[in-house]
Amino acid sequence: MKNAVINGTGSYLPERSVTNQDLEAKLDTSHEWILTRTGISSRHVASEHETTSFMACKAAEKAVEASDIEANDIDLILVATCTPNHFFPSMACHVQKALKISKPIPAFDVSAACSGFVYAMDIARQYITSGTVKHVLVIGSESMSRALDWSDRSTCVLFGDGAGAVVLSASEKSGILASTLHALHDEEALLSYPNYATEPHKAFIGMRGNEVFKLAVNIMGDVVDEVLQDCHLQKSDINWLIPHQANIRIIQAIAKKLNLPMSQVIVTIENQGNTSAASIPLALDYSIREQRIKRGELLLIESFGGGMTWGAMVIRY
Ligand code: UT7
Repeated sequence: MKNAVINGTGSYLPERSVTNQDLEAKLDTSHEWILTRTGISSRHVASEHETTSFMACKAAEKAVEASDIEANDIDLILVATCTPNHFFPSMACHVQKALKISKPIPAFDVSAACSGFVYAMDIARQYITSGTVKHVLVIGSESMSRALDWSDRSTCVLFGDGAGAVVLSASEKSGILASTLHALHDEEALLSYPNYATEPHKAFIGMRGNEVFKLAVNIMGDVVDEVLQDCHLQKSDINWLIPHQANIRIIQAIAKKLNLPMSQVIVTIENQGNTSAASIPLALDYSIREQRIKRGELLLIESFGGGMTWGAMVIRY
């Protein structure tokens, strides 16, 4: 059986950055509140032309460029997003067109909010390890700024836009070692983003932040134990934690649980905010390009989001 191995990564961030000071001028908030409660100083906000599909295509082009394959070698395209600019053609079909892939390979979007990238990576892994395909392009792309009520200080300061992509390839080498996914219907409506077509008056992200925070810390703590047990590894084996970037205090709590110093945690939240399904592939690409993460090292990725959905994955890079 072949393993699913990270072959290349890429990412895209919108040109415009919005600082906490910019928000202070428009909202009843402060740089100090946002930074101390969340770890965020600024976030990238997409301009009109920087749609979710545009950013997905840019990140995908870079990931293919960084890999040892050509676009036409790709057998499957998956885009994790909760902010598509079209329901169909899917974001994945837009990427297929942008990469000029002439074969009618399967391409579809994955909807699992902030956990979307971990979900899409797990799907890709199943396709590869079953021997169905050799190369999968997995993308997380989000325009969170278009899903926000910019007068709601409890949500609009938290999110940002961007995209990250990974080419996963079948290989004899070690790759994804274990993966675990979960979902449980959000009975309490803690985190939601209604469809504009059916609920136009409340078609923005709504969140009961404090309750989501507590749930995220507990659940993420359990899921990292579960995924490590699945691959018979110890906390001390992990070289890098690449967490979903929702709040620096959640990230610190998970690092503490893993006995990992923050120097072994990839943190991008300060200048990107929470980019939902794009946050892990953005952090992964950033740390690979900065040569912080080296081949052979053990990575733990984990995420928690709307649904509620959550998951974690151990990867030998
Ligand atoms: O990615 C998907 C998963 N999402 C998450 O995991 C996010 C989880 N939640 C969080 O990150 C945090 O709960 C928040 C950052 C959203 C909020 O931080 P908190 O420490 O839980 O604050 P809080 O909601 O308990 O609010 C504390 C106070 C409130 O005022 P009162 O009632 O104490 O007077 C809020 O009205 O802070 C107020 N507040 C703000 N003040 C200034 C809320 N938002 C702001 C703001 N600026 N932007």
